[in-house]
Amino acid sequence: MTDYLKKILTSRVYDVAIESPLEVAPGLSARTGNTFLLKREDLQRVFSFKLRGAYNKMANLSEEQRKRGVICASAGNHAQGTALAAKKLGCQAVIAMPVTTPPVKINAVKMHGGDNVEVVLSGESFSDTYDHAVKLMQERGLTFIHPFDDPDVIAGQGTVGMEILRQHSAPIHAVFVPIGGGGLVAGIAAYIKLVRPEIRVIGVETADSCAMKQSLDAGERVNLTDVGLFSDGTAVKLVGEETFRLCKQYVDEVILVDTDDVCAAIKDVFLDTRSILEPAGALSVAGAKAYIERSTKSATPIQGETLVAVTSGANMNFDRLRFVAERADVGEDKEAILAVTIPEERGSFRRFCELLGQRHVTEFNYRISNDRDAHVFVGIEVQDRSETQTIIKTFEASGYRTFDLTDDELAKMHLRYMVGGKSPYAEDEQLFRFIFPERPGALRKFLSSMAPNWNISLFNYRNHGADYGRVLVGIQVPDAEMDAFHRFLATLGYPYWNETRNPVYKLFL
Ligand SMILES: Cc1ncc(COP(=O)(O)O)c(C=O)c1O
Repeated sequence: MTDYLKKILTSRVYDVAIESPLEVAPGLSARTGNTFLLKREDLQRVFSFKLRGAYNKMANLSEEQRKRGVICASAGNHAQGTALAAKKLGCQAVIAMPVTTPPVKINAVKMHGGDNVEVVLSGESFSDTYDHAVKLMQERGLTFIHPFDDPDVIAGQGTVGMEILRQHSAPIHAVFVPIGGGGLVAGIAAYIKLVRPEIRVIGVETADSCAMKQSLDAGERVNLTDVGLFSDGTAVKLVGEETFRLCKQYVDEVILVDTDDVCAAIKDVFLDTRSILEPAGALSVAGAKAYIERSTKSATPIQGETLVAVTSGANMNFDRLRFVAERADVGEDKEAILAVTIPEERGSFRRFCELLGQRHVTEFNYRISNDRDAHVFVGIEVQDRSETQTIIKTFEASGYRTFDLTDDELAKMHLRYMVGGKSPYAEDEQLFRFIFPERPGALRKFLSSMAPNWNISLFNYRNHGADYGRVLVGIQVPDAEMDAFHRFLATLGYPYWNETRNPVYKLFL
């Protein structure tokens, strides 16, 4: 049996890795009533912990093996870790990546590895790439650097656990660790349980990619046919044999979170550190929050404890930030998304706004579709889920049928952008774009100043956190009332553009 304590204590990682800071997250601590510590592995040179395991593995090879070279299959952080380790150790590394790998990741590998890496693009899917890498390994006599299922890799990742205990000798309630193939959690758990067994080690996975949880529940490794890809760093279908064995022995539990929770956690960490984590890197924070939340419903709520979350990586694809920002408030339970049916008649919007009270409207989409009912897609800022229920009860009590779409993927992903289209009920419609200063209550003020005179047949607004709110409004104004309408526009006091003659309007609305 491998002596992991010795292996971790003697791991060679500091030629390439820093002892990353273990720092207090003040906002998360204040909000949860605990001391929330972040183990900042996102600050490593390759922006993840992955270089620890890869370097330790390669440093432990014989001179002869290193001379022949190494190979790995990865499109992610392991590829960058292996590339940097190869450069530092002066050995050649073949990095096999799927043909679909974005150039930014290929360039990162080349940058870290320089002349010491050869990137081989092969296979559409990861398993094809892996098969090709095994073939190359055999042909060229290379050594395979596994991303997680290897005692030297596990021991290298385990140095994260060693540092946590060295950096914080006071009591720790639990350490939260993201799980992909299980190398990081296995190493950390082995060290912690051998040194301070009273500390809980809790793995975190997404509910749509939870191979370790399923395997632990089943008592054997479960091979998933499909995994969610949002947290791409942890999207693994089959956990390792050795990592599974260690997790069975040392991991206390695996907690599951969803995409919105992860987005909220990325925002939490941004607020506390001004750093942006990749989804896998924020899993631990989402898991710790879910653990605290779950405890509030139990006899022993977690309060005044010290919790450590390993923020494991920051290789964030910049284009994903839009999605993350969009989802963060829902993940925080700070936004309710509702479909409300109100009567299609003048003054209806105003009454609807009155029911909203002082609440901040984050989204408002509507298109006239018949002459009886108006179906409104609305986002509302709330304090927590119970406030959503209060709002729904208020609407229902006024006879407005309401659907809670807060957890509805179809609504959040697609329908919010599709409210619109041509309508036979939109005669005499004028189409205007407006901008107004974005501040709490601004949209409500805008809606109530618009509402009384003419029927609103289209409305499109989404708060994007900009300084100005942008709305598109369709208003039904009979020809005879155009002069009055122009006077109304002039008194409204918001900059506007008449889009009624825009050819795109004719095409799509
Ligand atoms: C940022 C990040 N976090 C967590 C993990 C999961 O690590 P493991 O596969 O060792 O469980 C990975 C794996 O690549 C990762 O890149």
